[in-house]
Amino acid sequence: MRKAIPLIPAMQCIGVANFLGAPGAGPERGPDALRSAGLIAALRRNGLQAEWRVTLAPGAGERMQALYQLLLDVADAGEAVVAAGAKPIFIGGDHSQAAGAWRGVGRALGWAPGLIWIDAHLDSHTPATSLSGNLHGMPLAALLGYGDPAMTDIPGPSLDPRRVAIIGVHSFEAAEAKFLENLGVRIFGMAEIRSRGLASIFSEALRIVGGEGNGFGISFDLDAIDPVEAPGVSTPVAGGLQAESLRQALQGCLRDRLCVGLEIVEYCPDQDPQGRTARLVLDLAESAGRPGSAELRHWEDKHGARNYAPLPVVLQAGSGCWLTDMDGRRYLDLMSAYSATSFGHSHPRLVAALSSQAGRLAVTSRAFSNDRLPVLLRRLTELTGYDRALPVNTGLEAVETALKAARKWAYRVKGVPVGEAEIIACTGNFHGRSIAIVGLSSEAQYRDGFGPFPPGLKCVPYGDAAALEAAITSNTAAFLVEPIQGEGGIIVPPAGYLTACAEICRRRRVLFIADEVQTGLGRTGRLLAIQHEGVRPDAVVLGKALGGGLLPVSAFLADDEVMQVFTPGDHGSTFGGNALAAAGALEALDLLEEEELIGHAAELGDHLLVSLQRIARNSPVVREVRGRGLLAGIELNPQTDAHSLALALLKRGVLTRETHGTVLRLAPPLVITQAELDWGLEQIADTLAAWGTPLPQAA
Ligand SMILES: Cc1ncc(COP(=O)(O)O)c(C=O)c1O
Repeated sequence: MRKAIPLIPAMQCIGVANFLGAPGAGPERGPDALRSAGLIAALRRNGLQAEWRVTLAPGAGERMQALYQLLLDVADAGEAVVAAGAKPIFIGGDHSQAAGAWRGVGRALGWAPGLIWIDAHLDSHTPATSLSGNLHGMPLAALLGYGDPAMTDIPGPSLDPRRVAIIGVHSFEAAEAKFLENLGVRIFGMAEIRSRGLASIFSEALRIVGGEGNGFGISFDLDAIDPVEAPGVSTPVAGGLQAESLRQALQGCLRDRLCVGLEIVEYCPDQDPQGRTARLVLDLAESAGRPGSAELRHWEDKHGARNYAPLPVVLQAGSGCWLTDMDGRRYLDLMSAYSATSFGHSHPRLVAALSSQAGRLAVTSRAFSNDRLPVLLRRLTELTGYDRALPVNTGLEAVETALKAARKWAYRVKGVPVGEAEIIACTGNFHGRSIAIVGLSSEAQYRDGFGPFPPGLKCVPYGDAAALEAAITSNTAAFLVEPIQGEGGIIVPPAGYLTACAEICRRRRVLFIADEVQTGLGRTGRLLAIQHEGVRPDAVVLGKALGGGLLPVSAFLADDEVMQVFTPGDHGSTFGGNALAAAGALEALDLLEEEELIGHAAELGDHLLVSLQRIARNSPVVREVRGRGLLAGIELNPQTDAHSLALALLKRGVLTRETHGTVLRLAPPLVITQAELDWGLEQIADTLAAWGTPLPQAA
């Protein structure tokens, strides 16, 4: 049953199918196109009440007369919305409609609202100065009280020029600029925006238009955005605003008590058959309705299961090694989603590969073949040297696949009596969270309350090859091991351990399976971490980075003897091996090679470890540092809480998390530069230095 979630505050969309400002480009089709693209749903997504009130269209007849009548209608509709206690969202049509919109709003308020005018153009011509005579170049002058009576005589207060701010202008005539300058209107051109940043410009504009606590509106012409991102406009002008910075600037504005309405104009669907501009408008509208980080965290806590305890930060964008929170603060990502985002965030090639594939073919299930998966399978097997790969989604699914393969191999190939097969794992392991896999865990919390677990699972101490040898019986199917334990605390086993285990497994006819979900694909400075010991396991599990950090993609890899135990119907997953996932994984593997990330991780990894050792020598709080490549752990003294260290680093703009209470885990994206890494290390060193002694305790 659907539970009612309280909605705040009401928005009413007024479509204005207006083309009278500059006939030809088709802006009159904008409102309908945006409505059917899901504008109302985008506004409602964040809990705002939103509905489509009306779509107004010009009547027939002489153009000026028709525009006058339309502006009267727009003003009336805007007035009615404000009078009803709601906020109007005017959806154009061309920008000439603004001459009615903000007069109507002012009429309902009893005073002229301030106005932020976001536009590539000044729109401040009068018929006397306009070269083209296009009415969409005149609405701001009309709102200020100048121009043809058909546009200026709409009942309602004229704008106060000292409470108007124009943002994003880069195409205008001198006469307009002079006119506005004389009136004292503040204009923020692109040069100033580029040098100061849109966020700072926007805050200044808000101070201008909302001075003394008065309300303001936002009138936004889509041509302010660079046409590379928003091609669907009537008069594109190169060199405009970046959509992402505008999205951030507009964030939450509709929830601002002082914001009395929004106008979005000049969407011309015919100019953008792929609908990119419409998607962008929806994205901007959703952002405009977005609540602040405190409310989002509250929703997460109230409506979500409490199986995670996230640090107090709400991230909303990422690029390379940097993430940005809701308030525009930037953080260096030193955790890479537990190694999943090895290629950094929003890598343009990964985004492009996925976008184009998503637009062509995504999921068909493996009831049919698709044209991407075979290419990935070939690529993966060539890269790793195994005969076959079995693609699934998350890491745990690939581990489950490995366990199933091992059991079936034991019965069909090794001759273990049916129902007797055993799997051996290591204490401190982490292979995922399914019931079978936590059945292998030695961690009390992971198991507590989730039994009974499947039989035939046991653990031996990590790093102890003799213990493995002793635990193997004639029924042992497989030994499952992480070459470095990640979740377990970045535990690097003693040199020679993996080689010894591989030799024991070979001698005792037990499958040696390396779980490289976290350590694979270059993380430790080799394609697979196990290659540091020159070992070739019987099977390998990959995940995390295989999806390029954008999709869950994992795989189980083995030779024919093991993989051929599977026959059609034995095992599968609806999404496993889908074309979209395969396209993403292929691009990720290409990047790994082309950007030489494995060598980079090896080189920078040495630097990371040496630097951490230096930091450790200077800090009484640090007990040990461990790691290989770009996977490292800082183990603190048992009295010290690594969670507090993660919180302190968050305040300094560094993202990472603790594991097992006393270990801080570091796994930066493999694309990190030395300068970025050094900055992060400096923050760690400074934080630890500031702690000094006595040692801080957990809160
Ligand atoms: C070594 C290892 N195996 C398996 C998994 C499970 O992967 P997923 O969370 O994608 O299921 C993890 C996750 O951290 C892991 O580190």
